[in-house]
Amino acid sequence: MKADRSEAARRVALVTGASRGIGRAVCLRLARDGYEIVAVARSEMDLNALAVEIDLAGGRCRVYPLDLTDAARIDDELGGMHADVVVNNAGIGVTKPFLELTPADWNRMIALNVNALYHVTRAVLPGMMDRGAGHVCTIGSISGRSAFVGGSCYAATKAFVTAWAESLLLETRERGVKVSVVSPGGVATMFGGKVPTAADAWKLKAEDVADAVSYVVGTPPSVLVHRVEVRTLSAPPPKRG
Ligand SMILES: NC(=O)c1ccc[n+]([C@@H]2O[C@H](COP(=O)([O-])OP(=O)(O)OC[C@H]3O[C@@H](n4cnc5c(N)ncnc54)[C@H](OP(=O)(O)O)[C@@H]3O)[C@@H](O)[C@H]2O)c1
Repeated sequence: MKADRSEAARRVALVTGASRGIGRAVCLRLARDGYEIVAVARSEMDLNALAVEIDLAGGRCRVYPLDLTDAARIDDELGGMHADVVVNNAGIGVTKPFLELTPADWNRMIALNVNALYHVTRAVLPGMMDRGAGHVCTIGSISGRSAFVGGSCYAATKAFVTAWAESLLLETRERGVKVSVVSPGGVATMFGGKVPTAADAWKLKAEDVADAVSYVVGTPPSVLVHRVEVRTLSAPPPKRG
């Protein structure tokens, strides 16, 4: 990996959920595209390892170990930060039948998948609007528009993403700020606390989603790709039993 932008031209991409999975892959990809990365997640060790990898490849990465369910800390640490791109990626999925979801499950998903979008985007959007340029790119999910058992909260948080992003776009487009949603199908990551196995081989790789994000944020100034769905060509194997 070799960064291909000079220091002077380096733009800043703030990526949440950067410690692993899709967010980590997005950081590596955007660093390769020449962005200085602002990497946010809770796991400081994993963020530091990411920063070393980006540094060794000639890029730049600043780390912000932060629990994004803590609105006050987001405001303190990220408020007013210069970002040319923000990738709202951090998200969790507790997928259980509705009556088995605890109040804590419900509130954690809403706090991260919904409320953190408000706080993180508010931290950087005023600067984008003032400069007349910027891009708010959020990771949705195909589950935001196709129901599944156990998805009553998670799928609803992803449906929120598309409705929020489309409305936000109407407020920002005349000020030069793009808003996009990248919605993957199944991706082989540790999402939901599961370690990927051979049975996940049919899924997308995190890098496939990162490539889509790179494309979306790399379009010419006059072009907006507002929504992208990324799927594997193959269907999931049939469930046994
Ligand atoms: N995997 C899939 O099949 C799939 C499909 C469609 C959409 N998505 C979406 O893709 C996004 C990324 O998922 P992934 O598959 O990469 O999952 P993942 O491997 O579990 O990564 C989730 C990331 O979010 C961070 N995070 C979790 N809780 C956080 C908190 N309270 N504060 C700050 N950061 C937090 C994690 O870092 P720390 O634990 O270090 O905080 C980690 O970096 C999510 O929005 C998910 O809904 C995933």
